[in-house]
Amino acid sequence: MNKALSPTDFGALEGFHDLNPTQDDFCASVIKGLSRKQKTLSCKFFYDQRGSELFDEITTLDEYYPTRTEIGILERSSADIAAAVGNQPTVVEFGAGSVRKIRLLLDAVDAPVFVPIDISRDHLVHSAKCLAGDYPETRVVAICADFTNDIALPKDLPTSNRLGFFPGSTLGNFTHDEAQQFLERTRATLGTGSAFLVGIDLRKDAETLHAAYNDSLGISAAFNLNLLNRINHELDATFDLTTFRHDAPWVEEHGRIEMRLYSTVNQNVTVAGTAFQFTEGEYIHTENSHKYSVAEFQALASSSGYEPVQVWVDDAERFSLHYLRG
Ligand SMILES: C[S@@+](CC[C@H](N)C(=O)[O-])C[C@H]1O[C@@H](n2cnc3c(N)ncnc32)[C@H](O)[C@@H]1O
Repeated sequence: MNKALSPTDFGALEGFHDLNPTQDDFCASVIKGLSRKQKTLSCKFFYDQRGSELFDEITTLDEYYPTRTEIGILERSSADIAAAVGNQPTVVEFGAGSVRKIRLLLDAVDAPVFVPIDISRDHLVHSAKCLAGDYPETRVVAICADFTNDIALPKDLPTSNRLGFFPGSTLGNFTHDEAQQFLERTRATLGTGSAFLVGIDLRKDAETLHAAYNDSLGISAAFNLNLLNRINHELDATFDLTTFRHDAPWVEEHGRIEMRLYSTVNQNVTVAGTAFQFTEGEYIHTENSHKYSVAEFQALASSSGYEPVQVWVDDAERFSLHYLRG
């Protein structure tokens, strides 16, 4: 449920805008997704408070190379990035999560305004408050919103020299068409003359990819299964988590990892009064993680109206950080 924060809850946060999806949106999306022939749940609903905590845990795993690799690129290339970005940008981060990577960018560029956007409300407020306390010279305005919709930025933000930041390969969760639409929409939101810094995971051997999404400690499995737990609690559903199993295969045909939850038995599940049948071995498709070559990503950016200006890649060529001009 959306809650209003009292001004005293903001801490050092300059402002908080709550455009979070409602429970009705969540329920309608789940019922629609489970009614499909290929049952599907939107990955944006992974991120309740527990989901955000589990994601943060995933980023610390040995097998999960993307976070540490992208941080390495940001650390090593911060002077180059600052030179490309220029001084005093208004930075807008999409899917800001625990706002860890932005700290490296804020250390490198003198940003007077930072706008973190995320769907995970409480996690966002907590992370943004901590960041605002640590960067008193930067005005932090948090927005809880679903970035698959149009987001109107607050009217009092500077309109020139805006920089979008989209790390973590979150863009890889979109299909190619969805990614193109997202980039077009974001370019319109950020405005003429803006720039966009996008972190995207590179294509690599299937073994490395498989290990990253099927870790030995089972944290990715817990993250995936937490979605069913959330649906049980928030939508009065009857998923028995012991009868669903996580798997995340590499699907070469689509160039992506697919997160799946397999039903291990024939069963019926009710969600908000609607019944769904599962046969043994049937799966719910919960997330895509598309991988791109540098050239593929640059072609996508160009087709969305962006000019690819510069790209930074780690030595092992695992991850890429693209600087695009709008
Ligand atoms: C893969 S995590 C990346 C987190 C962080 N940016 C990083 O690089 O580690 C995706 C983030 O995007 C947020 N997110 C996912 N779908 C979203 C949506 N539709 N709208 C807004 N935020 C979303 C999640 O809450 C999460 O914080």
